[in-house]
Amino acid sequence: MTGDRAQWKSKIGFIFAASGSAIGLGNIVFFSANAYAFGAGAFYLPYLVALVVVGLPLLILEMGLGGLYRRALPSTLGRIAGHWGEVAGWFALLNASFISMYYITILAWVGGMLLGSFGPLWQPSTDLEAFGTTLPNPVGFFFDMLSSWGVLVLVAVVWALNAHILRRGVATIEGAVRIFVPLMWLLMLVLIVRGLTLPNGGDGVALLFTPDFSLIGDPTVWQGAFGQIFFSLSLGFGIMTAYSSFLPRNADHVNNGLVTACMNCGFEFISGLAVFSLLFAFAIVPQASTISMMFFVVPQGIAAMPVGVRLFGVLFFVLLLLAGLSSSVSLLEAMVVSAIDKFRISRRRVLTFCIGIGFLGSAAFALPTVIDAQLESDGTLGLTLLDLMDHWAFNHGLLIAGLIECLIVGWMLPVSRLRETINRHSRLRLPAAFDWLIKLIIPAAIASLLASSLWSKLQNGIYGNELALDWGSQLPLFALLAWVGGSFGVAVWLARRPAAVAVPAEVADAP
Ligand code: PHE
Repeated sequence: MTGDRAQWKSKIGFIFAASGSAIGLGNIVFFSANAYAFGAGAFYLPYLVALVVVGLPLLILEMGLGGLYRRALPSTLGRIAGHWGEVAGWFALLNASFISMYYITILAWVGGMLLGSFGPLWQPSTDLEAFGTTLPNPVGFFFDMLSSWGVLVLVAVVWALNAHILRRGVATIEGAVRIFVPLMWLLMLVLIVRGLTLPNGGDGVALLFTPDFSLIGDPTVWQGAFGQIFFSLSLGFGIMTAYSSFLPRNADHVNNGLVTACMNCGFEFISGLAVFSLLFAFAIVPQASTISMMFFVVPQGIAAMPVGVRLFGVLFFVLLLLAGLSSSVSLLEAMVVSAIDKFRISRRRVLTFCIGIGFLGSAAFALPTVIDAQLESDGTLGLTLLDLMDHWAFNHGLLIAGLIECLIVGWMLPVSRLRETINRHSRLRLPAAFDWLIKLIIPAAIASLLASSLWSKLQNGIYGNELALDWGSQLPLFALLAWVGGSFGVAVWLARRPAAVAVPAEVADAP
């Protein structure tokens, strides 16, 4: 039936692809921004708890599901829980599609900054009056770029790159990640050596490890840590399920999960060292906003370097682009495989459809007027729509998807069966406690985080500190509600559609 499903050429190819998905913008900039915002050294405790108690078990679970059912998430959850299981799978996937739209917009901006870092990024801005201040570059460059239509070309280029990498599925993905992932590690090592050898670079590292325990009781810190682990390990969207469905039957999912998690968190850890040392060498204060960290704060640190500004600027943005691309292709592949698995349509048709819609979505995020009619520079960049979506997707969407996944697999599969199947081929066996983690502990942890977040939202307003009641400023919220409602509707519709009669995957996948 699925015997002719395409396969990774080698285990290392799969590990590169899985860790390439995990290692992305989340590791390089979001981690540092979150760590700084959530108590620096004190952030490590919730972070490690989130990794061991939730991240690693869920990673192994998602990989094991792919190995057991050899299908993407919607068909897998459909097999386990029927119609509503499949709806949940499609819903998670549609959220992934949405994340991929803004993720790719951010990558387009990274591309623009990369072009700029060959020269113009480090020169005075041409359009400073528009902002009424003398903004230091590269901030000015970034705003110039945002307000130009050229950014749409960049968006198109990044989508085209994704399409190119995905054109023949795992075969072409494996080819790309075999180059991207080792190169990412190399670039990161260069940056870290540079950061740590700068005068005062060590102070930044010291700060990264100095705990501020007053924050440890704060639920938002825990939510930040859980969100970071989910996002960083690419959990909750069935990406690892799709990738693992192309592994041989005797794959060791425990080992794969451990290796992927170690590579991801190791990369995140050394990125923190690089970013903190670089910033503190020049007394630049990191900012909580992940976007400003990437486009303003780190480039400012690079601009302050005595020599090699262009070189390190280029290296930093190439690194972001490679890491981001190997993540965005995984988001898209999860969707493409889901459609192929259910409807048996050719890869080329699914790709064309996804890329067409995805480009329009990303372009909408990139349009200056959608970002913010006034293009205000108020620290959050005024990127209202993107900021809000990021906030919801990062802190809530992923957690909700993970919660549903745990409940379905935990109680309906049930998880003991999955554990036994995984253990059959793994050197390190999953203990029986794994079942209770999936059935009870992880859902309870996620549910209480979501509840406390909801509670504080009700008290403080949905966005920022107060709930402004004018329609214009609530537009992003309505857009979000429309998205959630709409994707639920589409998920129900997709799940209702009859599955195509199975034809060999090879035939269906033929370009
Ligand atoms: N893990 C990726 C990162 O750290 C982002 C990502 C999230 C990719 C969810 C796929 C799915 O940047």
